[in-house]
Amino acid sequence: EDVDKGTYPHYMLKEIYEQPNSVRDAMRGRLSPEEATAKLGGLNMTNADLRSVERIILCGCGTAFHAAMVGEYLIESLAHIPVECEFASELRYRNLPTDRDTLVFVISQSGETADTLAALRESQRKGHRTLGICNSVGSTIARESDGGVYMHAGPEIGVAATKSFTSQLTIMTLLATLLGRIRYLSYAEGLEILANLERLPALVSQTLELDAQVAAIAKKYAKAPNFLFMGRQANYPIALEGALKLKEISYIAASGYPSAELKHGVIALVNEVTPSVFIAPRDAVFEKNVSNIEEVKARKGPVIAIGTEGNDHLDKVADEVIRIPQSPDYITPILASIPLQLLAYHIAAELGCDVDKPRNLAKSVTVE
Ligand code: G6P
Repeated sequence: EDVDKGTYPHYMLKEIYEQPNSVRDAMRGRLSPEEATAKLGGLNMTNADLRSVERIILCGCGTAFHAAMVGEYLIESLAHIPVECEFASELRYRNLPTDRDTLVFVISQSGETADTLAALRESQRKGHRTLGICNSVGSTIARESDGGVYMHAGPEIGVAATKSFTSQLTIMTLLATLLGRIRYLSYAEGLEILANLERLPALVSQTLELDAQVAAIAKKYAKAPNFLFMGRQANYPIALEGALKLKEISYIAASGYPSAELKHGVIALVNEVTPSVFIAPRDAVFEKNVSNIEEVKARKGPVIAIGTEGNDHLDKVADEVIRIPQSPDYITPILASIPLQLLAYHIAAELGCDVDKPRNLAKSVTVE
């Protein structure tokens, strides 16, 4: 660990605060306003190659798998290509359908996760072009894949993935833009996405200003025995990631669900001491999220809502409202991740847990 924590008490907090830079680095040299698209030269694929892709499989483990799930929403909505997400540990033993035009991406911060490497090799054995999305330069997955995209997030020391996740999400947006521009997105739509991506580092900085508010909320709820996390669409995987972060470093039982699944079982867990964290930005499904929040409140469950700046409606239904900047649907998951990272961090710190080295976990799992 030759990276210094600087003035931060933990690497995890330092890495959370590095995100304005790490998302910028994930985009550096990859935005092309002339062509109104993203450029990912490391894929080693021409536009004609990319145009012939009929199906995409995204795979990874842990946090990387959640990035894959967000990628599924983004690629399907911006590029209209069917996407399937799979845990690397499952993909390696699945009999992958061998359509010729299926492109496989393996996502791994370390580039050394045993299951992800095995999924890469199995997919190559089946004849699929298999690309890596890695942070560690020269890692095994980076070397063995047929091309890929580096995250350029810099070393991540905290066991709980933070900046690598938002870099993965940023790359998913770049990929969806690139694939979309050679299919359904117009020049003007491409330019608009690029303009929003250019604002992303500033929006991430602005979101980090929520830290003190999130710390106060963490203090209030740190003794809760369990937590629920809910969101819809691309924010559903963000709910899963929020729950994973909390479990990993605070050992509090936490589960993530699509908001509407609440009524199919999860609602049985709602009581006065189980906080529900809802990711409910101002978007097409906002009203739907609000009615789910009301269902929780009707059963006396405390609600922490992540909403959008300028939207006061949540004040009427939630106990706590954390407001992230207004942004398009392909940016919101990145911003919504940040208060969830901070919530897990401050709860774990409040409980005196070893934030950077949680029990039983390894930064990179190199055995099956
Ligand atoms: C371990 C880490 C997780 C990480 C996962 C995948 O379980 O504790 O934080 O998400 O591996 O790691 P990778 O390096 O492949 O992204």
